[in-house]
Amino acid sequence: MSVKASYLGHSAVLLEGDGKRILIDPFLNGNPSASCQPEDIGKVDMVLLTHDHEDHVGDTEHFLKKGATFVGIYELATKYGEQGYKNEGMNIGGTIEVEGVKIHMSHAFHTCYTGDCVSFIVELEGKQIHHAGDTGLSMEMQLLKEFFDIDLAFLPIGDRFTMGPKSALKAAEWIGAKKIVPIHYNTWPPIAVDVNDFAAKLGDKALVLKPGESHELS
Ligand code: NI
Ligand code: MN
Repeated sequence: MSVKASYLGHSAVLLEGDGKRILIDPFLNGNPSASCQPEDIGKVDMVLLTHDHEDHVGDTEHFLKKGATFVGIYELATKYGEQGYKNEGMNIGGTIEVEGVKIHMSHAFHTCYTGDCVSFIVELEGKQIHHAGDTGLSMEMQLLKEFFDIDLAFLPIGDRFTMGPKSALKAAEWIGAKKIVPIHYNTWPPIAVDVNDFAAKLGDKALVLKPGESHELS
C-alpha cells in the first residue's frame, strides 16, 4: 500500500494511509489558496495542529464535531478536551500512537497563544512524513536527520512569518528528507515567493505541489 499526501493550500495537508485519514493545519474556509472546503473532505480520523494561529486552526472544529481526534500540544489538547472533543495531548520530543498511527512531536521556532509551536513526524505505511509547521531555521533540525529517515517533508518558505527560501534550503539539507514540498507561501502578497527559483536551487529533492495536488509514496 502507498501513502497519499495531498497539499490543500497554505499549510493544510491531508495524509492517507494504513486505512487512516489525517489532516494537518486544516485552514480551508477563508484561505484564498485552498483547493477545497471542509465539506469536500469527508470523514477524517485525526486533526493535527502545529499551533493555534488562525491560518492553521481554520476548520479544526468542523472535523472534531464529526468525531475526529485532536492531536497537538498538551495545553491546546486540553482546551479542545474541555469543549468535549476527543483529544491526545503530547509534548515536544514525545511519540504517541493514535489508532495505530505513530506520531512524533518535534520543535518549531515560532509564536502562538496556547502551549507551544510544534512540528510533526507521522509514520504511515512505514513512511515518515514531516510537517514543519511555522518555523524559523533552527539548529535542532539537524537532529531530525539523526533520529529519522524522513521520506517527505512539508517546509514553510514564505518568509516574513516563517523561514524564507534561503533558510528553507538549509533546513532541507539538515532535515535530510528525500523530498521537500514547499508550503506557507503565495497565500497572500506578504508571503509571495518565487517557488520555481526555490525548486531550482533545491534540485532533485524539490516536489512543488499546487493546492489540490497529491504525491504517492510507496
Ligand atoms: Ni503561525
Ligand atoms: Mn502561519
